Amino acid sequence: MPVALGIESSCDDCSISIVREDGKVLFLNQKNQDQIHKKFGGVVPELASRHHGDVIFPLIDQALKTVPLSNIDCIAVTNRPGLLGSLLVGCVTAKTLSLSWKKALVGVNHIEAHIFSSLLFKKAEARKITIEGPALAFVVSGGHSSLFYVKDIGDSLLLAETRDDSAGEAFDKFARLLGFEWPGGSRLDKLAQTSPLGEQFFSKIQTEDLSFSFSGIKSQGQRLLQKKSKDWIEENKARVCADYQEKIVDHLMEKLSRAFENQPVKQVLVGGGVSANSLFRQRLKEWSQKKSVPCYLPETEFCRDNGAMIAWTGLQYFLKGKTDDLKMPTSPRRLDKDFFKKRKKADYE
Ligand code: KG4
Ligand code: ZN
Repeated sequence: MPVALGIESSCDDCSISIVREDGKVLFLNQKNQDQIHKKFGGVVPELASRHHGDVIFPLIDQALKTVPLSNIDCIAVTNRPGLLGSLLVGCVTAKTLSLSWKKALVGVNHIEAHIFSSLLFKKAEARKITIEGPALAFVVSGGHSSLFYVKDIGDSLLLAETRDDSAGEAFDKFARLLGFEWPGGSRLDKLAQTSPLGEQFFSKIQTEDLSFSFSGIKSQGQRLLQKKSKDWIEENKARVCADYQEKIVDHLMEKLSRAFENQPVKQVLVGGGVSANSLFRQRLKEWSQKKSVPCYLPETEFCRDNGAMIAWTGLQYFLKGKTDDLKMPTSPRRLDKDFFKKRKKADYE
């Protein structure tokens, strides 16, 4: 079965993976930079790219001890979007390896790779799901909150994105104000699970169209903490987190429901760091049963940025004969609008 080596270095995770065509992950290892950036409360681009440069070759060395080079058919690398310096480390590495090993090179759109991350599996013998378009895809991460109508690999329509912050940013910024180590999304989630839902500290997030907005709840969170005493915050932290989390998840679910009503699909694919959120996962499962539409969530390991999703997506392009040459561009652009075309709905019918 064809196999790809995947390189992901678009932000603060340097991740190398080797994946088979069916989605079986044969190798995955990464070095995250949480310890480096936590004192700044966000990713420092210069430090991120330097760290990628230090760890990328040792990780590739390790990968080749698991799967021999002769078994690898192509090298897939994130070439857009992301932090330019970080992307360049991965792209220059991939070009160099492609040249010296004489292997095909494929540049992968990071957000498209998140869309297909629920297809990846590690322990099972065979993949349990197959993509059947049209699908709705939901990428919810630290950098993106976007909904897509997906027909196939390389054929997606951007339906909605955030007007301001992403869901992950809203989690991380509020978590930081509460004193959690950055990135605090998963810590906030853990604490929220210890409290019952239903208390109202924040108002419902509202936008008229399909787009998302998370800057309002972030400001509400900031104002609440400014008004209350330290003791009050300590005492009510879990209840506040539970409501904050629920308001974000309600907003995400409302837009998914609306998109589904506008455009019924055969399945829903979810990806991105926030898809690890426990309440979001629970609500998606309940919604999927209610609407009788399969909804696929990545295994927790594949929610956050990882080289496996890059390897698998790149391999699909390779198998279609769509490869890049050494002139492959590297682009930091946030949503790569030329890729996820904002075509009219009629184009898809
Ligand atoms: O996909 P990812 O690794 O990076 C981007 O492409 O942005 O997503 C990272 C984001 C961070 O904001 C992190 O706090 C959030 O995903 N995250 C969570 C949870 N686990 C990770 N947010 C809420 N609940 C979680 N359990
Ligand atoms: Zn990502």
